[in-house]
Formats: sequence, C-alpha cells, structure tokens
Amino acid sequence: MRSIRRIGIAAGLMLGVSVHALNAFASEPTVPPEPATFPAEGKIKFVARDSILEFKALPDYHEPDWVTEKFVKTGKLPPVKDRLPKEPLVFKTGNMPDGVGVYGDTMRHVIGGRPEGWNYGAGQTQGWGGIDIGLSECLTRTAPLFQVEAKDTEPLPNLARSWDWSSDGHKLTMHLIEGAKWSDGAPFNADDVMFYWDDEVVDPNVSPLNGATPETFGVGTTLKKVDDYTVEWTFKEAFPRQYLYAMAYGTFCPGPSHILKPQHPKYSKNTYDQFKNAFPPEYMNMPVMGAWVPVEYRPDDIIVMRRNPYYWKVDEKGNQLPYLNELQYKLSTWADRDVQAVAGSGDFSNLEQPENFVASLKRAADPKAPARLAFGPRLIGYNLRLNFSANGWGNPDERSQAVRELNRNEDFRKAVTMALDRKALGDSLVKGPFTAIYPGGFSSGTSFYDRKSTVYYPFDLAGAKALLAKAGLKDTDGDGIVNFRAGTAGGKDVEIVMLVNNDYTTDKSLAEGVVAQMEKLGLRVVLNGLNGTQRDASQYSGRFDWLIRRNDQELTSVVQNTEQLAPVGPKTSWNHRAPESGEVDLMPFEKDLVDIVNKFVSTQDNDQRAELMRKFQKISTENVYNVGLTEYPGALIVNKRFSNIPQGTPIFMFNWAEDSIIRERVFVNADKQAKYELFPQELPGKPGKKGPMD
Ligand code: GLA
Repeated sequence: MRSIRRIGIAAGLMLGVSVHALNAFASEPTVPPEPATFPAEGKIKFVARDSILEFKALPDYHEPDWVTEKFVKTGKLPPVKDRLPKEPLVFKTGNMPDGVGVYGDTMRHVIGGRPEGWNYGAGQTQGWGGIDIGLSECLTRTAPLFQVEAKDTEPLPNLARSWDWSSDGHKLTMHLIEGAKWSDGAPFNADDVMFYWDDEVVDPNVSPLNGATPETFGVGTTLKKVDDYTVEWTFKEAFPRQYLYAMAYGTFCPGPSHILKPQHPKYSKNTYDQFKNAFPPEYMNMPVMGAWVPVEYRPDDIIVMRRNPYYWKVDEKGNQLPYLNELQYKLSTWADRDVQAVAGSGDFSNLEQPENFVASLKRAADPKAPARLAFGPRLIGYNLRLNFSANGWGNPDERSQAVRELNRNEDFRKAVTMALDRKALGDSLVKGPFTAIYPGGFSSGTSFYDRKSTVYYPFDLAGAKALLAKAGLKDTDGDGIVNFRAGTAGGKDVEIVMLVNNDYTTDKSLAEGVVAQMEKLGLRVVLNGLNGTQRDASQYSGRFDWLIRRNDQELTSVVQNTEQLAPVGPKTSWNHRAPESGEVDLMPFEKDLVDIVNKFVSTQDNDQRAELMRKFQKISTENVYNVGLTEYPGALIVNKRFSNIPQGTPIFMFNWAEDSIIRERVFVNADKQAKYELFPQELPGKPGKKGPMD
C-alpha cells in the first residue's frame, strides 16, 4: 500500500551514510532491516479529493421525525431549513461506502482518559478517544485524506468553505461557511475565528489543547477579520500551502466565543487559571460546532453526547447529519476499549497496544464475532526523546542539567541507541510479524519514508560502552553505573529521569524494557510514570530528562503537524523548547533540520518535497534526534452493525480513525439498530444547565 501512495521518489537516489567518523564500531551504521511483510488487510479505495464533499443548497431538508414532532412542532426549535446554513456542507453519496443512511442508534466508545473540562482552546483535555474530535470542527479537515492519492492531497474545506491565494502568494483569503450556528443556535462567524487566534493562540498565557502557537502557522504570520464571513492570512513565505494542514484538527478548531470571551482575562476580572477552569466537566451542553453535544457526565462512569440540532452538514438527499443520535464514552481504561470492542459491549477501538493483539485476533476470527478487525500499515511507533535544552527550559537542577548536556553529546546519543536491543523490545510486546526494528525518524508506513535514507545503528553493547567512555563517562565507584565526570553533578552516578504515560500498558512495558537495557549499558534510568494529563503538563513545561512518546502525526503523515518535526518555533518541538524568556539553543544539526522543514513548507514541487524529507530523515537518524524504540501496525475494530466505515481506514495517519471514518456519516441499518440510546428522543439543553433539553 505504501508504494501506491509514495510520492515520486527518484529511482536509485540514495543518500550515502558517512561511516568514516564512526568506524570504531564493531557494527557499522546501516539501513534498518526490511520489516516482515505485514500486508494491510483493508485495501483502501483511492478517490479524487473533490469526490468527497461540496457546499450547496438542496431543495429540501430532513431530520429525525421525533425532532420535528417533539421540538419543531412545539416551537422549541426552528424548522430544520432555518437551522441550516444556506449552503450546507453536503457529503456526496458516491463517496459513502454504503450510501445514504438512516437515523438512530449510538456509538459506544470506551476510553482511558478523563475529562479536565470543556475549555479545549485553553488546553483542557476531554479525555481523548475522539470526544474532542466529535465536538470540534476546524477550518479545514485532513483525516479523510488517507483515501486521496498523495499527489492530489490538499486539506478538505470545512468551516472554511473555500480559499484564494493572492498572486504573490503571501495572502490567503478564507471564506467561512455562512449562516452556520453553534449547537445553542448562536451564529458562527469570523469573531469565533479571531477569538481563537488573538486570545488563545497568540496570547502567550493560553495554550490550546494540541499546542497551537503562532509559529504553527509560520513565523511572522498574521490573521485578520475582513467581514463576518471572511478572514485573511498574511504569511512571510509565498504560497505556504502546508499551513492548510495546521488549520485542521487539532490546531485550528475555534471554540464558541460568545461563551468563552466573557470569561477571558482580557474581557473580565478572571485570572488565566479561572478562565481555563471556567467550564469543568460538570458544565453540560457546552456549545459546539461538532455533530454531538455533551449532555451527561458521571465521574469515572460515562459521558453522553446527543445530536447537535444545528449541525451544518447534510447528505445529498438533504438529511441533516449526524445519522447517529448519540455517542457514549464509557470512562474505563484503554486496554478495556479493546476488550469491550471485540466482545461487543463497546463499538469501537483503535487496537494499538500489541499486548492485546493475539487475544483480539482470536476473538475476531470467529465468524460470529460482533466486531470487524482490520490491520493497516505500520504507523504506530514509539520514540525515546531526549531533552535537548541546556539553557533552562523546565528549570533543571544540577543533575538534570548535566543529563541534558549529555543528551546534546553525539557519542552519548549513539551509545544509547546502540545499547537498545529493539528486537527484544518488540518481542516483549508481542511475538510474530507485527513489530519492526525502528531506529527513529518517520514511520515506515508513511508515504515519505525512504529506507535507504534511514541510518540505523545496530545493537552493539560493547560498541555502545566504548562510546560512553568516549563521552567521558566512567564507572569510578565500581557499582556498574557510570559516573558524571568529576566536577559535574558531584561526580555521582548518572541517573536519568524518564517521563512515561501510565495510561497505556505499552508505554509502561517499553519503559521497563529501556530501564533494563540501559542498566546493562551503565546508565540508571528512573521512571516518572504519570497519567496522560499530568504527563503532558510535565512535558510541555520541560520537566523531564528523557521521555517515551507514541509518535504523532508529524512522523506518520509528515504533512500534518510538520512544524513539530523540528524546533522551528520556541514551542513546536516535543523535546526541545525555549525557556520562558529565551531562544531555543539549537545544535548545528538541528539548525539543518529547521531549515529543511522551513523549505518543505514553502516548496510546491512534490519531488523536491520528497527529496527534502529524505534529507531530513538522514540527518535526523544519523544524529539520533529521536531514539526509535519500535513500530507496528494498528487495527481498527468496529462493531459489524455500523455502515459507511471506509475500507482500509488506518487507525492513525493524518488523524485518528475517530475522525477518518467521518462519524457524522456512519449509520446503523434499521434492522440492526440496537436500543442503546440512554437519552432517546432528547436534544441538548441550555449551555451550563444540567441534562438534555427535554
Ligand atoms: C487516544 C487513543 C487513540 C485515539 C486518540 C484520539 O490517544 O489512544 O487511539 O483514540 O485518543 O484522540
């Protein structure tokens, strides 16, 4: 499948690996071994980008009968045609795997996260697993692009229904959908977009959930309102089409300014903390542009979301979407999501923790199994990331500062990567053809991956120890752990604090594997295991020496979250950010990475872009920018009663599958509908009030 999507890779091009400087190793750097073939089971049906959706008026519109009977006829809601924009977003039937659907039923999700509150724009998580994806709508949309040929790929319109570039390419005018409404009926317009930009992205005291910063859209970029339905971007580069990806989930999804603005410190007496926490999980009916609205929350139990009566998307027959009346989010664990999905008590899972592969596959192989399970490409990967800031990000103490200086030492990084037995790490998660040797850099399942440009330092403990000695680390007290040089951190044992997300079994297993393997090298690694929310807080504020992180989109799609590939801004990289008032102290090879990313953003030519990313891959893997741990394919598990699930949907590429399957189009045939709705025939109520409307 990868070869189908690969963007014109010039034949025979191979970036030579310079071995001269490194030939002290028993094993020389090479390319990673060919991974065991693992054919994606679901074959993607590739389509043209413009075959998915359009914006147009239809002769008439429909909604579930109970909405008309119970809410429109009683005057509680205006008729559906008055709730929709003049030209709604229309999903084309030809692109819907099972065509036009019917109303009813619910999708029962299970998640391991917990909601902090509903203030996404101020950085609060709703618990992941697709809750925020169901609430949020963004200027553009990229998740469904997995089915579009790479050469045809440009983000899909969404809240921005169209856009035009100025002739010099420095200005981008975006036309917003006209007449769309928030789920409480308030109009959506450019003020919402400007509030998100001015008071959340640009305001240095606010940090939206997925970490959008001004540099996410290019250094020096500005945005202004032209009129209620038009905004204009100005960029330093010409035609930086790449930023259209940053306008998709999760970096440009504006919140309801009519609700948020009165709480923002600029317009109230609130502190920034009070603003962030103004919409706790108990705050129900938060206005959204997404297809479902949260109407019920019971701690450690469930979040229920009901259909948004103002949703602005329809099918070609004029049926207002979504088809599913309800979404449920059971608050459990990520491992339980797999168990429940294969057992049929849950409806959906991204099978991403290899520890669950064998049991899930066995269960799904039974023809009577309630759920379909299909593996995709190798796009789930893990990296060990080293904190590269030596100028104060996270206020390190003496020991931690000394570790960071080691992290910046090339011999030290090579020692670490060579001391990793990746085969053993992979096998400790699951035996069989799933996991592959992954040295770091791009996931092998992405169209930009080029094996020949990937530098791999094979497992070689003796070589690794020699490099550690070269980096000046010796075991001076004979306890098996090397010591800092005399004069550094008191010459004590080298102790490294590794930040880990405790919500996932896989993260913990990999962390334990790394600890054991590093001990053999002579490094003491101490785990700092936190839940996902606390882990993120520690990471963003730089309080870690090492960090285990599941790969994000910059490594699985390259075009999504591209700015996270390197420290192009003070807060864009995961492991190298600027302290409060400072610069990122880039190492020379990082400067090269930043230059490549900046060039990539403003380059239009597909061959040149592929070439730039081959260079990126080579420099980043040769210098061990990230220490790859393992990579493997994930499988999508969806209950068999659902229709319109595109075949071959990867669980992760431009975004997670909760977005890629386009949930607003998913439906359950009438004869298969189950009675799972917890709030049948009810709609969201008033913002901040308990419970649904009726
Ligand atoms: C978590 C899960 C993923 C996916 C995302 C969606 O990260 O582990 O499988 O559901 O949430 O945001």
